[in-house]
Amino acid sequence: MSRTWDLRSDTATVPTADMLSAMVSAPVGDDVLGEDPTVNELERMVAQLCGHEAALFCASSTMANQLAIRTHLRNPPESMLCHWDSHVFKYESGGTSLHSQAQMIPIKPAMNLTVDDIKGHFVQGNMLGHRAPTHLVALENTMSGVVMPVADVREIGHFARDMGAVVHMDGSRLWNAAKGEDELHEYAMLVDSLSLCLSKGMGCPVGALLVGSRAFVDKARHFRKAFGGGWRQAGILAAAGIYAINNIWPTMPATHALAKRLAQGLESLGCVLALPVDTNMVLIDIAKSAAISTVELSDALRSRGVIWGAVYEGSYLRLVLHHQIDDECVDIILATASQLLASNK
Ligand SMILES: Cc1ncc(COP(=O)(O)O)c(C=O)c1O
Repeated sequence: MSRTWDLRSDTATVPTADMLSAMVSAPVGDDVLGEDPTVNELERMVAQLCGHEAALFCASSTMANQLAIRTHLRNPPESMLCHWDSHVFKYESGGTSLHSQAQMIPIKPAMNLTVDDIKGHFVQGNMLGHRAPTHLVALENTMSGVVMPVADVREIGHFARDMGAVVHMDGSRLWNAAKGEDELHEYAMLVDSLSLCLSKGMGCPVGALLVGSRAFVDKARHFRKAFGGGWRQAGILAAAGIYAINNIWPTMPATHALAKRLAQGLESLGCVLALPVDTNMVLIDIAKSAAISTVELSDALRSRGVIWGAVYEGSYLRLVLHHQIDDECVDIILATASQLLASNK
């Protein structure tokens, strides 16, 4: 077996030779003292791209999201509204309860959260001490690869602000949702803070940015240190981020086109998709795709170098594409699936 491809997540990307050489040659200093020039450059670059005052380079998106929540929710007990399937609700180790002493109120919308979903769950006042007033709305974009429309984010932002609340966006995959700098800027300006991941699809070994106002980022920087997240010569990692924004982000439209080709090929073989393929993820509804045994296919693909998606919520098979998945990989998947179908007839 000569090559392997990993479709379990876009976290599977590994640094390229060019990214590694950018890292090796980066000027560095002590970031805890604010003296790492490459970290400072990355933070400036991302804040500017987003149209916000400041950005903070963090070890992970979980850290960036949790810092955002802790910084926004200054008066426990408060509540935060979020999607029932969001990363902040399900997969951040209960961090919101631990760090922010806040109640999370999960909402199950038809697809993405809309302003009506938020209005329906928003807690205004504490109802004679019975309830935790909502101060934060947490959005996620993309979510399972589906893009949240700008108009929905705008409406939610207006409503939240009218109610005296703030909006954070887990934009770990906003690079995928936004088609270029203008759209990234547009989304970013509609929220009070956002996180952007560098190790999902962007190919960096580590890193995420938290973006917001100067006062917000200063406070988050304080919490980052308290969380043990102050780091020293982090410029070698920031250099990977700068490289990724300039060189890997522009490859995403090609990845999305490849995801569509894979999805259409699988559909033509009898697979049923659980969600639209807006960006880099293909979600297969396992129960409805009985024509193809996803287990058999997974075994056959493994022997051909393809580590095929992860089962998600027990019912979906999630295939995640990124810049290190190519046409050859998609050809292998579709050929293997069609051989399997033919041999099972
Ligand atoms: C939408 C989303 N947000 C946040 C995270 C957390 O990222 P990290 O692993 O960098 O903490 C993930 C991880 O997969 C994610 O998918």
